[in-house]
Amino acid sequence: MARIKPQALLQQSKKKKGPARMSLTTIILFSFIVVLIVFFLFSTYRHWTHRSRFQSDNGLFVSEGENEFGDPKKSDVPGYVVLNTSKGHIAVELYKESSPEVVDEFIDLCQKGHFNGMPFNHVIKHTVIQAGSNQKFGASEDWTSRGKHYSQLDSSLKHETFMLGTSKGKRDNEGFELFITTAPIPNLNEKVIVFGRVVKGEDVVQEIEKVDTDENYEPKSSIRIINSSMEDLNQDAALGVICNG
Ligand SMILES: *[C@@H]1O[C@H](CO)[C@@H](O)[C@H](O)[C@H]1NC(C)=O
Ligand SMILES: *[C@@H]1O[C@H](CO)[C@@H](O)[C@H](O)[C@H]1NC(C)=O
Repeated sequence: MARIKPQALLQQSKKKKGPARMSLTTIILFSFIVVLIVFFLFSTYRHWTHRSRFQSDNGLFVSEGENEFGDPKKSDVPGYVVLNTSKGHIAVELYKESSPEVVDEFIDLCQKGHFNGMPFNHVIKHTVIQAGSNQKFGASEDWTSRGKHYSQLDSSLKHETFMLGTSKGKRDNEGFELFITTAPIPNLNEKVIVFGRVVKGEDVVQEIEKVDTDENYEPKSSIRIINSSMEDLNQDAALGVICNG
C-alpha cells in the first residue's frame, strides 16, 4: 500500500502536473519567444531611431549649407561695387571675408558718395593707378623706388594684377584712397590693404593707365570716378549690362 500509494500519488501528480508542466514549458517557450520578439522589435526600433537621427542630422547639415548660401545678412553686404569712371565702368569684387572692416568702410563711403568726382591722381605705368584726393606724392614713391624690380619679377604673380587696395596706416575717411594694380606687384600686401579685385573693366583700368603723366606721375588730363553703385553677388547679369553698356 505504501508502495502503491506513492505510485498512485505520482501517477496522480503526473496526471495533475502533466498538463501544468506542459503549459509551464509552453509558457517558458512562449515567454522566450516574446522576449525574442521584444528584443528584435527594440533593436529594430533603435536601429531606425538612430538612422532617422542620423538622417535628420544630415538634413540639418544640408539646411545649414543652404542657409549659408541664402543667409540674408551676408547677401545684404554687396559683393561688387561698380566704379563709374570717365573712361568707363570698373566692377570690383570685394573680399568681404578677408578684409571685412575695410570692405565695410569702403561700402559706407560709396554710399556717402565719397568717391564721386574723385580724381585718379597718380598713374604709374605697369604698376598701379591711384585714386585719391591727396595730392601729395607720398605713397607713390614707395611704388616707383622699387619699380625697376617689377618688370624682372614677371608673370608668376599674374593673379596680383588688377587687385584693389587702399593705403595702410592711419586712414581717416577723407584719406581713403584706391589703388588698382596693373601688373603683378611683389609684396603687394606690404604696400596696401588688398580688399578686392577688378572682375570687369580691366580694359578701362588699362585705358586709365595710358594717360599722359608728368614727372610726379600725375595725369595731365583729368580722369575721375563719376560715381559708384552697389551690386549684389547674384546680379552678375546686371553687372555685365552695366559694364558693357
Ligand atoms: C556713368 O556715368 C555716365 C556719365 O556721367 C552716365 O551716363 C552713366 O549713366 C553712369 N552709369 C551708371 C551705371 O551710373
Ligand atoms: C551716376 O551719375 C550719372 C551722371 O551724373 C547718373 O546718370 C547716374 O544715375 C549715377 N548713378 C548712380 C548709381 O548714382
